[in-house]
Amino acid sequence: MLSPTIAKLLIVDDLPENLLALAALIQGEDREVHQAQSAEAALSLLLEHEFALAILDVQMPGMNGFELAELMRGTEKTRNIPIVFVTAAGREMNYAFKGYESGAVDFLHKPLETMAVKSKVSVFVDLFRQRKVLDRQLQALERSRQEQELLLAQLQTARGELEHAVRMRDDFMSIVSHEVRTPLNGLILETQLRKLHLSRGNLEAFMPEKLQAMVERDERQINSLIRLIEDMLDVSRIRTGKLSLRPKVFDLSQLVGGLVENFTAQAAALDTHIAIQRCEPLRGEWDEFRIEQVVANLLSNALRYGERQPVHVRVFRQDDQACVQVQDHGIGICAANQQRIFQQFERVATQQASGGLGLGLYISEQIVNAHGGRILVESEVGKGATFTLQLPLATREQQNDQARATSA
Ligand SMILES: Nc1ncnc2c1ncn2[C@@H]1O[C@H](COP(=O)(O)OP(=O)(O)OP(=O)(O)O)[C@@H](O)[C@H]1O
Ligand SMILES: [Mg+2]
Repeated sequence: MLSPTIAKLLIVDDLPENLLALAALIQGEDREVHQAQSAEAALSLLLEHEFALAILDVQMPGMNGFELAELMRGTEKTRNIPIVFVTAAGREMNYAFKGYESGAVDFLHKPLETMAVKSKVSVFVDLFRQRKVLDRQLQALERSRQEQELLLAQLQTARGELEHAVRMRDDFMSIVSHEVRTPLNGLILETQLRKLHLSRGNLEAFMPEKLQAMVERDERQINSLIRLIEDMLDVSRIRTGKLSLRPKVFDLSQLVGGLVENFTAQAAALDTHIAIQRCEPLRGEWDEFRIEQVVANLLSNALRYGERQPVHVRVFRQDDQACVQVQDHGIGICAANQQRIFQQFERVATQQASGGLGLGLYISEQIVNAHGGRILVESEVGKGATFTLQLPLATREQQNDQARATSA
C-alpha cells in the first residue's frame, strides 16, 4: 500500500509566539509545519517545498500577507497553493484580496478559535491529499494510454505483415498454378494430338525424326515441372531447417564452364551469348549440386532480365574466397529492391510475365549462407546487374582450425 502523502504546511507571521501557537494547533502525524517570520523567508521556502497550504499573517512589517499572496500568484510553482489569511481586522477584510483567482482563499480571524483553525486546515489537507491521489491516477492513466498506443502500433504493424503474408500466399498460389498449368497444358495438348493421329491411323506423325522432337518437347515440359516442384520442396526444406549439404572437393571453374556451355542454346535463342573468363583450377569443398543450382539461377536470371544483351561471367580467386561473377546489361534493380529480391516470392521486375516463381535468389542465398559464403548484388536501373557469389575456399572446420591457431 502507498504511504499517505505528507502534507507540508507553511505558516508566516512576524511574531515568533504566534508561529509557535499556530504550529502547536495545526501539527499532526502526516503533516510537516514550516515556519517563516517574513514574506522573504516564506518565498524561499515556497520555492523549495511543495506546500498543501500557506497560512499568511496579513499585517507584517515590510511585505504584508496580501503582497506575498500577489507574488505567489505570479509564480508558476506557487500559483495553486491554497492560502488562508490571518487577520485582526473585521470580516470586511475578506473582500480586500480579490486578485487571487486560482487556488482557494480563506480567512481566519484573531483571536484564533482552536476548532475553526483545526477544521479549516484539515479541509485543505484533505483536499491536497485527494489532489495527489488524482494526480497519481492521472499519471497511471497516461502511462496506460501510452502503453495502449504502443500496443496499437504493434498490432497495426503485425496486421500489415499478416496482410502482406496473405497477399504473398495468394499471389504465390496463382503464380504456381499458372506455372504448373503451362507445361501441363503443353503435355495434354500433345497427348490429345497423338491420340488423334493414332485413331486416324496416321503413323507418319510418329516417324523417327518427329518422334525425336516430340520426346524432346515432352522432356522440356517435364523438366520445368520437376524444377518447380524441386524449388517448392527446397523452400520447405529451408523453412524446416532440413536443407542438408553434401560437400566434396571439386573445381568451381570447371563447373561454371560446363554450365555456361549448357546455357549456350538458351542464349542463342535470345540472339545473345554468354562470355566467360576464368582462372583454373579453383578447387574447394562445397556441395556441387547445390552450387550448380545457384550459378544456374544467376545465369538464367541474367538471360531473363538481361534484355538480350551479352552476359559476362568471371570466375576468380580473391584472397581466401572463390568468386563467380555474373554480369548482365539488362533492366537492372533499383537500390530499394536489392534486398527484397532475396526474399521468398519477391519478383520486382515489371515484366512479371517473363518472371518465374521468385524463389531462385531466396533458395540461392540460403544455400550460399549454409556454405559460409554470400551473394552480393550491384545494380542500377537500366544499366544491368552484377551478382557475385563468394564461397570460402577453406571448409568450416579448416576456418575454425585457423581461427584457433591464430588466437592461441
Ligand atoms: N539479373 C537481374 N536483373 C534484374 N532483375 C533481376 C535479376 N535477377 C533477379 N532479378 C529480380 O529479382 C527477382 C527475384 O529473382 P529470383 O531469381 O528469386 O526469382 P525469379 O527469377 O523471378 O523466379 P525463379 O528464379 O523462382 O524462377 C526477379 O523476379 C527479378 O525481378
Ligand atoms: Mg530466378
